[in-house]
Amino acid sequence: MTLLADRHGRQFPYLRLSLLDACNFRCSYCLPEGYHGCGTQGVLGLDEIRRLLAAFACVGLRKLRLTGGEPTLRRDLLPIIELAAATPGLERLAMTTNGILLEKRSADWRAAGLDALNISLDSLDAARFEAITGSPAHASILRGIESSLRLGFASVKLNAVLLRGLNDDELPSWLDYLRERPVSVRFIELMQTGDNAEYFSRHHLRAEALEAQLGEAGWVLQPRPPTAGPAREYAHPDFAGRIGVIAPYSKDFCAGCNRLRVTATGDLRLCLFGEFGIPLRPLLQDDADREALVGRLTGQLALKTAGHGLHEGHTGLTPHLASIGG
Ligand code: GTP
Ligand code: 5AD
Ligand code: SF4
Repeated sequence: MTLLADRHGRQFPYLRLSLLDACNFRCSYCLPEGYHGCGTQGVLGLDEIRRLLAAFACVGLRKLRLTGGEPTLRRDLLPIIELAAATPGLERLAMTTNGILLEKRSADWRAAGLDALNISLDSLDAARFEAITGSPAHASILRGIESSLRLGFASVKLNAVLLRGLNDDELPSWLDYLRERPVSVRFIELMQTGDNAEYFSRHHLRAEALEAQLGEAGWVLQPRPPTAGPAREYAHPDFAGRIGVIAPYSKDFCAGCNRLRVTATGDLRLCLFGEFGIPLRPLLQDDADREALVGRLTGQLALKTAGHGLHEGHTGLTPHLASIGG
Protein backbone atom coordinates (compact mmCIF):
# COMPACT_ATOMS: atom_id res chain seq x y z
CA MET A 1 0.00 0.00 0.00
CA THR A 2 1.30 3.52 -0.83
CA LEU A 3 1.18 5.55 2.41
CA LEU A 4 0.55 9.27 2.31
CA ALA A 5 3.92 10.91 2.95
CA ASP A 6 5.49 14.25 2.14
CA ARG A 7 8.94 15.51 1.12
CA HIS A 8 9.78 16.33 4.73
CA GLY A 9 9.72 12.74 5.97
CA ARG A 10 6.25 12.94 7.58
CA GLN A 11 3.43 10.42 7.19
CA PHE A 12 -0.27 11.22 7.29
CA PRO A 13 -2.39 8.38 8.65
CA TYR A 14 -4.78 10.92 10.26
CA LEU A 15 -7.60 12.76 8.51
CA ARG A 16 -9.73 15.50 10.04
CA LEU A 17 -12.97 15.69 8.13
CA SER A 18 -15.23 18.67 8.73
CA LEU A 19 -18.88 17.67 8.52
CA LEU A 20 -20.40 21.14 8.73
CA ASP A 21 -18.83 24.57 8.76
CA ALA A 22 -21.69 26.20 10.68
CA CYS A 23 -21.83 26.36 14.47
CA ASN A 24 -24.41 27.32 17.08
CA PHE A 25 -21.87 28.79 19.53
CA ARG A 26 -20.30 32.24 19.32
CA CYS A 27 -16.82 31.68 20.69
CA SER A 28 -15.22 35.07 21.00
CA TYR A 29 -11.95 33.88 19.39
CA CYS A 30 -13.66 32.00 16.58
CA LEU A 31 -17.15 33.07 15.51
CA PRO A 32 -18.18 36.01 17.69
CA GLU A 33 -20.86 37.05 15.20
CA GLY A 34 -22.02 33.50 14.58
CA TYR A 35 -21.67 31.75 11.26
CA HIS A 36 -24.17 29.87 9.23
CA GLY A 37 -21.73 28.20 6.95
CA CYS A 38 -22.24 27.20 3.36
CA GLY A 39 -25.67 25.73 4.19
CA THR A 40 -26.48 22.03 4.40
CA GLN A 41 -27.01 21.95 0.60
CA GLY A 42 -23.34 22.60 0.16
CA VAL A 43 -21.77 20.04 2.50
CA LEU A 44 -20.58 16.60 1.43
CA GLY A 45 -23.32 13.97 1.52
CA LEU A 46 -23.09 10.37 2.69
CA ASP A 47 -22.07 8.94 -0.68
CA GLU A 48 -19.38 11.56 -1.14
CA ILE A 49 -18.03 10.87 2.35
CA ARG A 50 -18.06 7.13 1.64
CA ARG A 51 -15.99 7.61 -1.53
CA LEU A 52 -13.60 9.98 0.21
CA LEU A 53 -12.95 7.54 3.05
CA ALA A 54 -12.54 4.62 0.66
CA ALA A 55 -9.78 6.57 -1.13
CA PHE A 56 -8.05 7.54 2.14
CA ALA A 57 -8.26 3.89 3.25
CA CYS A 58 -6.21 3.00 0.14
CA VAL A 59 -3.38 5.25 1.34
CA GLY A 60 -3.15 4.11 4.96
CA LEU A 61 -5.84 5.99 6.91
CA ARG A 62 -5.72 4.85 10.56
CA LYS A 63 -7.34 7.71 12.44
CA LEU A 64 -10.32 9.83 11.47
CA ARG A 65 -11.63 12.83 13.38
CA LEU A 66 -15.03 14.32 12.58
CA THR A 67 -14.93 18.07 13.13
CA GLY A 68 -16.80 21.25 12.26
CA GLY A 69 -18.00 23.96 12.86
CA GLU A 70 -20.21 21.79 14.98
CA PRO A 71 -20.46 18.26 13.50
CA THR A 72 -23.25 17.15 15.83
CA LEU A 73 -25.70 19.56 14.20
CA ARG A 74 -25.87 17.27 11.18
CA ARG A 75 -29.06 15.26 11.13
CA ASP A 76 -27.31 12.36 9.42
CA LEU A 77 -24.52 12.17 12.01
CA LEU A 78 -25.35 8.60 13.11
CA PRO A 79 -25.20 7.10 9.60
CA ILE A 80 -21.96 9.04 9.03
CA ILE A 81 -20.45 7.56 12.20
CA GLU A 82 -21.56 4.06 11.16
CA LEU A 83 -20.13 4.49 7.71
CA ALA A 84 -16.87 5.92 9.01
CA ALA A 85 -16.50 3.17 11.63
CA ALA A 86 -16.63 0.57 8.84
CA THR A 87 -13.61 2.07 6.99
CA PRO A 88 -11.04 -0.70 6.47
CA GLY A 89 -7.88 -0.22 8.52
CA LEU A 90 -9.34 2.48 10.78
CA GLU A 91 -8.03 2.18 14.36
CA ARG A 92 -9.54 5.30 15.89
CA LEU A 93 -12.73 7.21 15.11
CA ALA A 94 -12.89 10.50 17.02
CA MET A 95 -15.05 13.60 17.02
CA THR A 96 -14.51 17.17 18.24
CA THR A 97 -17.68 18.85 19.53
CA ASN A 98 -18.73 21.90 21.49
CA GLY A 99 -20.67 19.48 23.70
CA ILE A 100 -24.12 20.89 23.09
CA LEU A 101 -25.67 17.47 22.38
CA LEU A 102 -23.32 15.42 24.51
CA GLU A 103 -25.70 14.75 27.37
CA LYS A 104 -28.49 13.55 25.09
CA ARG A 105 -26.59 11.80 22.32
CA SER A 106 -23.19 10.49 23.32
CA ALA A 107 -24.54 6.99 24.04
CA ASP A 108 -25.93 6.84 20.47
CA TRP A 109 -22.63 8.00 19.01
CA ARG A 110 -20.75 5.40 21.03
CA ALA A 111 -23.14 2.64 19.92
CA ALA A 112 -22.70 3.71 16.29
CA GLY A 113 -18.95 3.19 16.55
CA LEU A 114 -17.39 6.45 17.76
CA ASP A 115 -14.48 5.70 20.09
CA ALA A 116 -12.98 9.05 21.10
CA LEU A 117 -14.36 12.47 21.98
CA ASN A 118 -12.76 15.93 22.23
CA ILE A 119 -15.01 18.46 23.89
CA SER A 120 -14.36 22.20 23.91
CA LEU A 121 -14.47 23.53 27.48
CA ASP A 122 -12.78 26.89 27.79
CA SER A 123 -13.60 27.39 31.45
CA LEU A 124 -14.71 25.40 34.48
CA ASP A 125 -16.73 28.41 35.58
CA ALA A 126 -20.22 28.70 34.07
CA ALA A 127 -20.32 32.51 33.87
CA ARG A 128 -16.89 32.71 32.26
CA PHE A 129 -17.81 29.91 29.89
CA GLU A 130 -20.87 31.81 28.79
CA ALA A 131 -18.87 35.02 28.37
CA ILE A 132 -16.38 33.21 26.11
CA THR A 133 -18.72 31.00 24.09
CA GLY A 134 -22.09 32.74 24.28
CA SER A 135 -23.60 29.47 25.49
CA PRO A 136 -25.51 28.91 28.75
CA ALA A 137 -25.06 25.12 28.42
CA HIS A 138 -22.09 24.73 30.80
CA ALA A 139 -23.89 22.51 33.34
CA SER A 140 -25.27 20.23 30.63
CA ILE A 141 -21.84 19.89 29.03
CA LEU A 142 -20.28 18.95 32.39
CA ARG A 143 -22.97 16.31 32.89
CA GLY A 144 -22.40 15.11 29.34
CA ILE A 145 -18.70 14.66 30.08
CA GLU A 146 -19.53 12.57 33.17
CA SER A 147 -21.88 10.32 31.26
CA SER A 148 -19.42 9.99 28.37
CA LEU A 149 -16.78 8.81 30.83
CA ARG A 150 -19.07 5.92 31.75
CA LEU A 151 -19.61 4.87 28.14
CA GLY A 152 -16.18 3.36 27.61
CA PHE A 153 -14.75 5.81 25.07
CA ALA A 154 -11.07 5.04 24.48
CA SER A 155 -10.28 8.69 25.08
CA VAL A 156 -12.09 11.80 26.31
CA LYS A 157 -10.19 15.07 25.89
CA LEU A 158 -11.23 18.59 26.80
CA ASN A 159 -9.99 21.60 24.83
CA ALA A 160 -9.42 24.91 26.58
CA VAL A 161 -8.06 27.81 24.55
CA LEU A 162 -5.72 29.82 26.80
CA LEU A 163 -6.97 33.40 26.92
CA ARG A 164 -5.11 36.16 28.71
CA GLY A 165 -7.40 37.83 31.25
CA LEU A 166 -10.32 35.48 30.59
CA ASN A 167 -9.36 32.01 31.83
CA ASP A 168 -5.61 32.05 32.53
CA ASP A 169 -5.93 31.61 36.32
CA GLU A 170 -7.81 28.31 36.37
CA LEU A 171 -5.03 25.78 36.80
CA PRO A 172 -6.00 25.06 40.47
CA SER A 173 -9.61 24.30 39.44
CA TRP A 174 -8.38 22.11 36.60
CA LEU A 175 -6.14 20.18 38.99
CA ASP A 176 -9.14 19.46 41.25
CA TYR A 177 -11.08 18.37 38.19
CA LEU A 178 -8.35 16.04 36.94
CA ARG A 179 -7.54 14.37 40.23
CA GLU A 180 -10.15 11.62 39.86
CA ARG A 181 -11.22 11.90 36.22
CA PRO A 182 -9.38 10.02 33.47
CA VAL A 183 -9.63 12.87 30.97
CA SER A 184 -6.95 14.85 29.25
CA VAL A 185 -7.33 18.63 29.13
CA ARG A 186 -5.48 20.30 26.26
CA PHE A 187 -4.53 23.93 26.76
CA ILE A 188 -4.40 25.42 23.29
CA GLU A 189 -2.57 28.63 22.52
CA LEU A 190 -4.86 31.06 20.76
CA MET A 191 -4.05 31.20 17.07
CA GLN A 192 -4.32 34.30 14.97
CA THR A 193 -6.67 33.88 12.04
CA GLY A 194 -7.80 36.29 9.35
CA ASP A 195 -10.74 37.41 11.50
CA ASN A 196 -9.37 37.80 15.01
CA ALA A 197 -6.24 40.01 14.84
CA GLU A 198 -7.35 42.53 17.45
CA TYR A 199 -8.68 39.86 19.79
CA PHE A 200 -5.43 37.97 19.35
CA SER A 201 -3.33 40.94 20.39
CA ARG A 202 -5.40 41.33 23.56
CA HIS A 203 -5.74 37.70 24.63
CA HIS A 204 -2.92 35.64 23.17
CA LEU A 205 -0.83 33.96 25.86
CA ARG A 206 2.10 31.59 25.44
CA ALA A 207 1.79 28.33 27.35
CA GLU A 208 5.32 28.54 28.77
CA ALA A 209 4.31 29.99 32.17
CA LEU A 210 1.68 27.29 32.55
CA GLU A 211 4.20 24.59 31.67
CA ALA A 212 6.63 25.98 34.24
CA GLN A 213 3.87 25.81 36.89
CA LEU A 214 3.19 22.21 35.91
CA GLY A 215 6.85 21.33 36.28
CA GLU A 216 6.96 22.88 39.76
CA ALA A 217 3.87 20.89 40.74
CA GLY A 218 5.50 17.60 39.74
CA TRP A 219 3.90 17.04 36.34
CA VAL A 220 6.20 15.19 33.99
CA LEU A 221 6.41 15.60 30.21
CA GLN A 222 5.58 12.26 28.63
CA PRO A 223 7.67 10.76 25.88
CA ARG A 224 5.56 10.53 22.71
CA PRO A 225 6.47 8.91 19.44
CA PRO A 226 7.14 11.47 16.67
CA THR A 227 4.02 10.20 14.90
CA ALA A 228 1.68 11.05 17.81
CA GLY A 229 0.99 14.62 16.66
CA PRO A 230 2.15 18.00 17.87
CA ALA A 231 0.66 18.16 21.41
CA ARG A 232 2.97 17.94 24.45
CA GLU A 233 1.51 15.80 27.22
CA TYR A 234 2.10 15.85 31.00
CA ALA A 235 1.17 13.28 33.65
CA HIS A 236 1.36 13.12 37.44
CA PRO A 237 1.18 9.96 39.57
CA ASP A 238 -1.47 11.45 41.90
CA PHE A 239 -3.87 12.40 39.12
CA ALA A 240 -6.14 10.23 36.97
CA GLY A 241 -6.20 12.91 34.30
CA ARG A 242 -3.51 14.34 32.03
CA ILE A 243 -2.64 17.77 30.74
CA GLY A 244 -1.70 18.50 27.14
CA VAL A 245 -0.33 21.67 25.64
CA ILE A 246 -0.83 22.64 22.00
CA ALA A 247 1.67 25.41 21.31
CA PRO A 248 1.56 26.16 17.60
CA TYR A 249 3.89 29.14 18.01
CA SER A 250 6.74 26.96 19.18
CA LYS A 251 9.39 26.50 16.53
CA ASP A 252 9.24 22.75 15.96
CA PHE A 253 5.48 22.34 16.27
CA CYS A 254 4.99 21.31 12.65
CA ALA A 255 7.71 18.66 12.70
CA GLY A 256 5.18 16.36 14.39
CA CYS A 257 2.39 17.02 11.90
CA ASN A 258 0.57 13.80 11.04
CA ARG A 259 -2.78 15.09 9.79
CA LEU A 260 -4.56 16.30 6.69
CA ARG A 261 -7.88 18.09 6.56
CA VAL A 262 -10.87 17.98 4.29
CA THR A 263 -13.41 20.80 4.57
CA ALA A 264 -17.16 20.28 4.74
CA THR A 265 -17.39 21.08 1.04
CA GLY A 266 -14.67 18.62 0.04
CA ASP A 267 -11.50 20.71 -0.26
CA LEU A 268 -8.27 19.09 0.82
CA ARG A 269 -6.25 21.37 3.12
CA LEU A 270 -2.60 20.47 3.49
CA CYS A 271 -2.19 22.78 6.51
CA LEU A 272 -4.53 24.49 8.95
CA PHE A 273 -2.89 27.72 7.84
CA GLY A 274 -2.52 26.85 4.19
CA GLU A 275 -3.77 29.48 1.83
CA PHE A 276 -5.78 27.37 -0.55
CA GLY A 277 -7.90 24.25 -0.69
CA ILE A 278 -7.60 21.56 -3.32
CA PRO A 279 -11.07 20.57 -4.57
CA LEU A 280 -11.73 16.85 -4.27
CA ARG A 281 -15.48 17.02 -4.82
CA PRO A 282 -15.39 16.51 -8.60
CA LEU A 283 -13.79 13.11 -7.90
CA LEU A 284 -16.38 12.14 -5.28
CA GLN A 285 -19.30 11.72 -7.66
CA ASP A 286 -18.58 8.24 -8.97
CA ASP A 287 -17.03 5.10 -7.43
CA ALA A 288 -15.07 4.70 -10.65
CA ASP A 289 -12.98 7.77 -9.81
CA ARG A 290 -11.28 6.18 -6.82
CA GLU A 291 -7.94 5.70 -8.51
CA ALA A 292 -7.89 9.27 -9.78
CA LEU A 293 -8.75 10.49 -6.29
CA VAL A 294 -5.93 8.48 -4.74
CA GLY A 295 -3.62 9.95 -7.39
CA ARG A 296 -4.73 13.48 -6.50
CA LEU A 297 -4.10 12.87 -2.79
CA THR A 298 -0.62 11.43 -3.24
CA GLY A 299 0.29 14.01 -5.90
CA GLN A 300 -0.83 17.03 -3.85
CA LEU A 301 1.26 16.02 -0.85
CA ALA A 302 4.34 17.12 -2.76
CA LEU A 303 3.08 20.67 -2.12
CA LYS A 304 2.93 20.36 1.66
CA THR A 305 5.30 22.89 3.19
CA ALA A 306 7.52 22.11 6.17
CA GLY A 307 5.58 24.42 8.48
CA HIS A 308 2.94 27.09 8.85
CA GLY A 309 5.45 29.83 9.68
CA LEU A 310 3.31 31.15 12.56
CA HIS A 311 6.43 31.66 14.68
CA GLU A 312 7.71 33.95 11.91
CA GLY A 313 4.62 36.15 11.98
CA HIS A 314 2.74 34.43 9.16
CA THR A 315 -1.02 34.00 9.65
CA GLY A 316 -2.28 32.73 6.34
CA LEU A 317 -5.69 33.54 4.95
CA THR A 318 -7.72 31.15 7.11
CA PRO A 319 -10.56 33.42 8.31
CA HIS A 320 -11.47 31.31 11.35
CA LEU A 321 -10.89 27.70 12.25
CA ALA A 322 -14.57 26.73 11.97
CA SER A 323 -14.36 26.86 8.19
CA ILE A 324 -11.78 24.08 8.01
CA GLY A 325 -12.38 22.16 11.18
CA GLY A 326 -9.57 23.32 13.50
P1 GTP B 1 -5.93 14.61 18.74
O1 GTP B 1 -4.43 14.64 18.87
O2 GTP B 1 -6.42 13.70 17.70
O3 GTP B 1 -6.67 14.46 20.02
O4 GTP B 1 -6.37 15.95 18.11
P2 GTP B 1 -6.19 17.40 18.57
O5 GTP B 1 -5.41 17.54 19.81
O6 GTP B 1 -5.72 18.11 17.35
O7 GTP B 1 -7.67 17.72 18.96
P3 GTP B 1 -8.78 18.66 18.44
O8 GTP B 1 -9.36 18.21 17.18
O9 GTP B 1 -9.76 18.79 19.53
O10 GTP B 1 -8.03 19.99 18.16
C1 GTP B 1 -7.84 20.91 19.11
C2 GTP B 1 -7.28 22.15 18.50
O11 GTP B 1 -5.89 22.03 18.41
C3 GTP B 1 -7.68 22.44 17.08
O12 GTP B 1 -8.93 22.94 16.94
C4 GTP B 1 -6.66 23.46 16.75
O13 GTP B 1 -6.98 24.63 17.42
C5 GTP B 1 -5.45 22.82 17.37
N1 GTP B 1 -4.80 21.99 16.39
C6 GTP B 1 -5.07 20.72 16.09
N2 GTP B 1 -4.29 20.31 15.07
C7 GTP B 1 -3.51 21.36 14.72
C8 GTP B 1 -2.52 21.57 13.73
O14 GTP B 1 -2.19 20.71 12.93
N3 GTP B 1 -1.97 22.79 13.66
C9 GTP B 1 -2.31 23.77 14.50
N4 GTP B 1 -1.71 24.93 14.38
N5 GTP B 1 -3.24 23.60 15.46
C10 GTP B 1 -3.85 22.43 15.56
N1 5AD C 1 -7.08 29.39 18.30
C1 5AD C 1 -6.99 28.24 19.02
N2 5AD C 1 -7.97 27.32 19.07
C2 5AD C 1 -9.07 27.57 18.38
N3 5AD C 1 -10.20 26.85 18.25
C3 5AD C 1 -11.00 27.51 17.40
N4 5AD C 1 -10.46 28.67 17.01
C4 5AD C 1 -9.24 28.74 17.61
C5 5AD C 1 -8.17 29.68 17.59
N5 5AD C 1 -8.23 30.81 16.89
C6 5AD C 1 -10.43 25.57 18.94
C7 5AD C 1 -11.58 25.56 19.92
C8 5AD C 1 -12.04 24.15 19.92
C9 5AD C 1 -11.44 23.55 18.71
C10 5AD C 1 -12.46 22.88 17.88
O1 5AD C 1 -10.85 24.63 18.01
O2 5AD C 1 -11.28 25.87 21.19
O3 5AD C 1 -11.66 23.45 21.07
FE1 SF4 D 1 -18.21 26.86 17.28
FE2 SF4 D 1 -15.97 25.60 17.82
FE3 SF4 D 1 -15.84 27.99 16.69
FE4 SF4 D 1 -16.70 27.76 19.23
S1 SF4 D 1 -14.63 27.25 18.43
S2 SF4 D 1 -17.68 29.00 17.62
S3 SF4 D 1 -17.75 25.86 19.24
S4 SF4 D 1 -16.68 26.17 15.77
